Amino acid sequence: MTVLSPREAYRLWAPTYADETAISFLESELTSDLTPPLEDLRLLDAGCGTARRLEGVGAALAVGVDISPEMLAAGAGSDPRVETMVGDIRDLPLPDGGFDVIWCRLVIGHLPDCAPVYRELARVADARARLIVTDFHPAAWAAGHRRSFRHGAEVHEIEHHVHDLDRHLHAAAAAGWRLTETRTAAIGPPARPFYEKAGRLALYAEHQGLPVVLALAFEREG
Ligand SMILES: C[S@@+](CC[C@H](N)C(=O)[O-])C[C@H]1O[C@@H](n2cnc3c(N)ncnc32)[C@H](O)[C@@H]1O
Repeated sequence: MTVLSPREAYRLWAPTYADETAISFLESELTSDLTPPLEDLRLLDAGCGTARRLEGVGAALAVGVDISPEMLAAGAGSDPRVETMVGDIRDLPLPDGGFDVIWCRLVIGHLPDCAPVYRELARVADARARLIVTDFHPAAWAAGHRRSFRHGAEVHEIEHHVHDLDRHLHAAAAAGWRLTETRTAAIGPPARPFYEKAGRLALYAEHQGLPVVLALAFEREG
């Protein structure tokens, strides 16, 4: 299996990315649980991919930024109320203090250092903002799982950097974020239909109980 840079991987994956996977499904449930009602709030999805998670959220403002123009193009026009732009989450093309809720979903592990991400998200956050960060779970990596996708006949691995909980919390605290909640999603019954559809129920039995998504909720300090 070849290991691709995130930029190249998502260029290839963009046309089929909308197909939900077990991990994206579990991540979505966790993030929904941790997200406050969005009515009247300004929401940023940093590393939004196709911006699918912003569709129909009902926020006062819904902005998505992603480094991959192909991912943004794949989701373009699905919801005219969503504004998207190309950009790096370590250097966002956005002014200071403009968001009440920020998502950073399954992105931060693609970056070698999470500190610049927490700092930049703090810059664009309102003084009372909440931040939800999700990541491929370090326990899944330790068990030999990798971030991968199928493109035609080939399976590609995507560059991933393990940030354990301590590293997240240290970087977040240094940027002025206070942890309010930690959650984990493991392979279990909600993920079973994805294995079933792929004809891989034997793997489901093997993976059951394995943590695959780490979710962290923060608010601004002081
Ligand atoms: C696993 S996808 C998640 C997409 C979206 N958050 C979701 O949950 O559907 C990871 C996304 O991170 C984006 N990405 C990777 N590195 C980035 C960076 N430095 N700045 C902005 N986006 C980045 C990729 O282009 C890709 O769209």
